Amino acid sequence: MKKYLLLAASLFFYNLAFAQNALLIPPVLNGPVYNLNLQPGTVNFFAGTATQTLGVNGNILGPTLIMQKGDSITLNVTNQIADTTTIHWHGLHVAPYNDGGPHTVILPNTTWSPTFTVRDHASTYWYHPHLHHKTNEHVSKGIAGFIIVRDNDEAALSLPRTYGVDDIPLVLQTKDFDANNQIVVMSNNDDVAMVNATINPFVQVPAQVVRLRLLNGSSQRVFNIGLTNNQPFHVIGTDGGLLNNPISLTRYIISPGERAEILVDLNNLQGQTIHLMSYASELANGYYGATYPGMGPGLVMTGYNPNPLNGANFNLLALQVVAPIPGGISTIPSSLVSNTPIPAAQSNITRNLTFMPAQMGPNQLNGDFMINNAMFDMNVINYTIPLNNTEIWTLTNQSAISHPFHIHDVPFYILDRNGQTPPPVEQGRKDVVMVRPQEVVRFITQFTTFSDPMVPYMYHCHMLTHEDGGMMGQFIVSNPNSTSSIPAYEGCRFYPNPTHGVLMVQMDNASNINYTEAIALNGQKTWLPFEQQQHGIVIQLSALPTGNYLIAVHTDNGVVQRMISKY
Ligand code: C2O
Ligand code: CU
Repeated sequence: MKKYLLLAASLFFYNLAFAQNALLIPPVLNGPVYNLNLQPGTVNFFAGTATQTLGVNGNILGPTLIMQKGDSITLNVTNQIADTTTIHWHGLHVAPYNDGGPHTVILPNTTWSPTFTVRDHASTYWYHPHLHHKTNEHVSKGIAGFIIVRDNDEAALSLPRTYGVDDIPLVLQTKDFDANNQIVVMSNNDDVAMVNATINPFVQVPAQVVRLRLLNGSSQRVFNIGLTNNQPFHVIGTDGGLLNNPISLTRYIISPGERAEILVDLNNLQGQTIHLMSYASELANGYYGATYPGMGPGLVMTGYNPNPLNGANFNLLALQVVAPIPGGISTIPSSLVSNTPIPAAQSNITRNLTFMPAQMGPNQLNGDFMINNAMFDMNVINYTIPLNNTEIWTLTNQSAISHPFHIHDVPFYILDRNGQTPPPVEQGRKDVVMVRPQEVVRFITQFTTFSDPMVPYMYHCHMLTHEDGGMMGQFIVSNPNSTSSIPAYEGCRFYPNPTHGVLMVQMDNASNINYTEAIALNGQKTWLPFEQQQHGIVIQLSALPTGNYLIAVHTDNGVVQRMISKY
């Protein structure tokens, strides 16, 4: 009895201590022109010390970009951090050169201005840096923001959509801080949970139906989402759009990169506080966030233990239920939209991707991970995919930890997990799928709309440590019917990259080469000396100042070009 009283008392004080910081709600930017300044900042996460951060138009995180499907938009991304970076529109179906992958660098003090039409279904997307080897650093230090796409199908539904009031974006992250309260980038000791960059947050929500847009923006951690009192919630959408019907659940596992929109019915809870939690004690081993990140105690991950968040239940956000708002939503809709998955029979090809540790043995969680026995190489195009191909990708995880696999360009539908149809909540459009140890996941997608002979799209693990460590590949979508006159491209490689002195361009079918040039990101062109050899050319660029350049080789058949870093 006494024990229970103590427990009740400690829970009471714990909750008082917990709910102390008002949740940060990112400001909104509307189009058609969005100005984003990537900048350094400071945040007082802990009283008395300023933590160095990175943010977009502010000290940390970035504004929420509201877009309407069909709009033509321009994003002016100005890089004012003292480092090269990129910004990727995660989940949006855009041309490769607008996608913001590792090839589309933004040098310090320059502006990148992609322009495109929003073609995506209403959903919650996001943007984040994607420079190879720097993604984890730039995201961990604070650059990330929401994109909310609206469309007519969503607008026709009776759903909460008053931003920050009954429709709230929540980016879930964990970070590690050193003794000086500075963010540690490469760490398995991420023991501070935060939502919208707020530690111990609370938010007031109306006693109605509230929509929470969840984004796992963590470098590595998986959350097992639930509400206190086992209150059910209703998943209405996943990465790429709304589901056919709301799905009532009490737990939802969300892995890095994934989004889920949930409705919470707070009609009868005015005056009460309920908590959004991660019930990580219920996570099976093999997830980063469980007691053991690998399949059991046999495999150790350096720095992972002790970390009080691993395998434990912890609070993410206190929801303080206040008075209803006029015009708020009081019921959960019974149906949403109708998705038409692509039938497996329509696929032209199956591609097999197998994940494995770079080194086997008991230390395998501490090294890098590979896809099909290879680490990412900027100069290797792993797949060339004909435009409009419908493909099945089979993901086989032969490592001991789960990997959230993400593909750029197009959303996909999960066909099966180990041969079994996925649960209804996984039957909508996705762009990240968690693949458990020893699991085989198949998805189907179609590579529509965009082709480009030169700029690739990426696929990778969305654990940012794994991505930066090389668990990534790239593909070109090619248009066999295009009249583009660059036959040399398929066999064309630029290496090494980055480079210091010479650049080899392998062009087996090269026709007459007229001249080569380097185009700096401010547009300035420099003619480069080259020497033609049997299987390509050797370009001399030791005289170029350090920086990133588009190197263009002008041949009788067209121009072959590639982004190169000169150091
Ligand atoms: Cu969210 Cu390739 O990334
Ligand atoms: Cu991974």
